[in-house]
Amino acid sequence: MNPPSRYLVTSALPYANGPLHIGHLAGAYLPADAFVRYLRLSAKDVVYICGSDEHGAAITIRALREDTTPQAIVEKYHKMISEAFEHMGISFDIYHRTSAKIHHETSQDFFQKLYDNGSFIEKENDQFFDAEAGQFLADRYIIGTCPKCGHDEAYGDQCENCGSTLSPTELIKPKSTISGSTPILKKTKHWYLPLEQHEDWLRSFISEGLLDGEQHHYPDEWKKHVVGQCKSWLDAGLQPRAITRDLDWGVDVPQQIDGAKGKKLYVWMDAPIGYVSATKQWAKDHGKNWEEYWKDDDTALVHFIGKDNIVFHCLIFPVILKQYGSFNLPINVPANQFVNLEGRKVSTSKGWAVWINDYLKDFPNRQDELRYYSFKIMPEQRDSDFTWKGYQEAVNNELVNNLGNFIHRVLVLTNKYYNGVVPVFDESISINAPQESGLPTWHDSELLDLFDKLHDLRSYLKSFDFRSALKTLMEVSSIGNQMLQLNEPWKHEKTDPDTVKVVMNLGLQYVTAISVVLDIFMPFSSKKLRSMLSLAPIQEKGEFVDIMDALSEGKHLIQAGHKINKAQHLFSRIDDGDIAAQISKLKATEGAKEENEVAEGDMKPTASFDDFSKLDLRTGTIISAEKVEKTDKLLKILVDLGFETRTVVSGIAETYDPEELKGQEIVMIANLAPRKIRGVVSKGMILLAEDGNGKLGFVSAPKGWAKGEVVR
Ligand code: 2FM
Ligand code: ZN
Repeated sequence: MNPPSRYLVTSALPYANGPLHIGHLAGAYLPADAFVRYLRLSAKDVVYICGSDEHGAAITIRALREDTTPQAIVEKYHKMISEAFEHMGISFDIYHRTSAKIHHETSQDFFQKLYDNGSFIEKENDQFFDAEAGQFLADRYIIGTCPKCGHDEAYGDQCENCGSTLSPTELIKPKSTISGSTPILKKTKHWYLPLEQHEDWLRSFISEGLLDGEQHHYPDEWKKHVVGQCKSWLDAGLQPRAITRDLDWGVDVPQQIDGAKGKKLYVWMDAPIGYVSATKQWAKDHGKNWEEYWKDDDTALVHFIGKDNIVFHCLIFPVILKQYGSFNLPINVPANQFVNLEGRKVSTSKGWAVWINDYLKDFPNRQDELRYYSFKIMPEQRDSDFTWKGYQEAVNNELVNNLGNFIHRVLVLTNKYYNGVVPVFDESISINAPQESGLPTWHDSELLDLFDKLHDLRSYLKSFDFRSALKTLMEVSSIGNQMLQLNEPWKHEKTDPDTVKVVMNLGLQYVTAISVVLDIFMPFSSKKLRSMLSLAPIQEKGEFVDIMDALSEGKHLIQAGHKINKAQHLFSRIDDGDIAAQISKLKATEGAKEENEVAEGDMKPTASFDDFSKLDLRTGTIISAEKVEKTDKLLKILVDLGFETRTVVSGIAETYDPEELKGQEIVMIANLAPRKIRGVVSKGMILLAEDGNGKLGFVSAPKGWAKGEVVR
């Protein structure tokens, strides 16, 4: 196995059915972005591919929910998602979309070729059908209880609670999300990929890294949880997988095929082919040959994904590629686990998430701070936890106090002592060693230590250990700070200017190295720093190799006599107030959702009489209502309970005008623990009935009843 001379790197195509959140970013995009930036800085030929996944039930369900068309949904979210990526500095070479003509054609070509070469089997079998809606149900249209963990909102293809991949018939108490009815099984004919016929080669591919008898990759370079998940699939025995659906949204099965009418490709058949079609488009736009990137032996294919996509990228897509013939299979699939938020699973439906677009609004020009913290907590081996406090501490203690402080001190002192000109120094002068030995050290030996550190950092990047790579960068900055601290140039500039020149020159070499490596993790800060150093912005054309070569030859990274610009702060502190605001925003959004939530169809678990009798339900009358500032859904409502006046926040602003509520009789839970929602303390909850279409109505006692009466 020779080292690859070309890389094709992909990040999972996000469904264009909702905005991006931090879990997406830390899962499949930031690690890939760091990896490709590192490759480009190492002068490698790399193309980084992504785009929106615009098919599948994820889109049609969203359209149903937003009462619009799938087309409108993909337009809206493709735009929103691609802008969020761009603002966060994710450096795709192309961000494509699966609604593009070239993608439909490429997917159909794949289907046709596999159909022609006998890679599929045809089967007629029973599939869930919603008799009320008169349509077959895609897996995502069916929810029910997960047979593995008991989560009661598992999808027909997957449980988002425990991550298990499911098939719809495994669900306990399945229910159609279109009509809410219990689906029936009905016969339909589809094409299947007989995965069980591929078990043998897949097993040796996964377990030994062998492909067609040759070493394709080393399995111990793959993450354990990735190999583990594939092996347990293989151990359980693979089943034929349907790759077509009865749907009206998606890529058509090539119409010349008998029985294709009304059939679309299964989204997991077309989505990964999106990597191929996006590469074709990119090659067309840049005068390149796409086939070199997919078919040449010396090209390495790397898929960055979240753990819920493992089997599709490690087993199913490889089968498709191999059956087509002449395509490379992935050399690695460095899947990440999930990011939780404040100790709980991210839930887009419950509003328990940090949305990237919101973050960018609330923290303008702080993209690198979010990138930094996401790398720091990247769920590389296990699930991790995003906390706002953790984010604040990382920014204030690490970016401001360590990295920013070191850079700022070096640049400020260089300007102060030498009018911004990198000083010439006497190589025979030793300084106090920043490292453990405590022995005096020389400029050159410190540069060799810097080389060693950067060498470690590079090894971490190569093995997809971005947390350790980032930590190593911060160690470089800590060493720089220690060096300043031990030698105190600010004390000795007058008395021992020659030694101070050594210290300052060394500091500038460190800062210059940092300006290159920063591009990998915090590209916006790299750009600012390069400008402060009066050096050309990083072009990602081999600059990492250049500094490593220079250091190994004892050369300097920034030359004596070069004049730098004025220093500015790269990072600033995050206030407690900003963090408190984020936490209450999170709770308020979630609170508003909770109040809007309905028990759809299935009953909640049994409540004991004791549970019920804890609630103090009272009649009341609304005195006044007003919108809660900066929210769409929340109203602050004053309720007359007879014995007192109560403030309650309720998520009904989209249904009711504040004016029309005056005098409305209601029933409320009067002893609910107070909760602060968007700065307003809500003391209780007004009861509302909700019909299947989300229409709300007040629950009330018969007209004219006194206020404050008990309801039981
Ligand atoms: O899980 C998801 O968000 C999918 N849209 C990922 C698709 S990855 C690839 F195959 F396109
Ligand atoms: Zn489950």
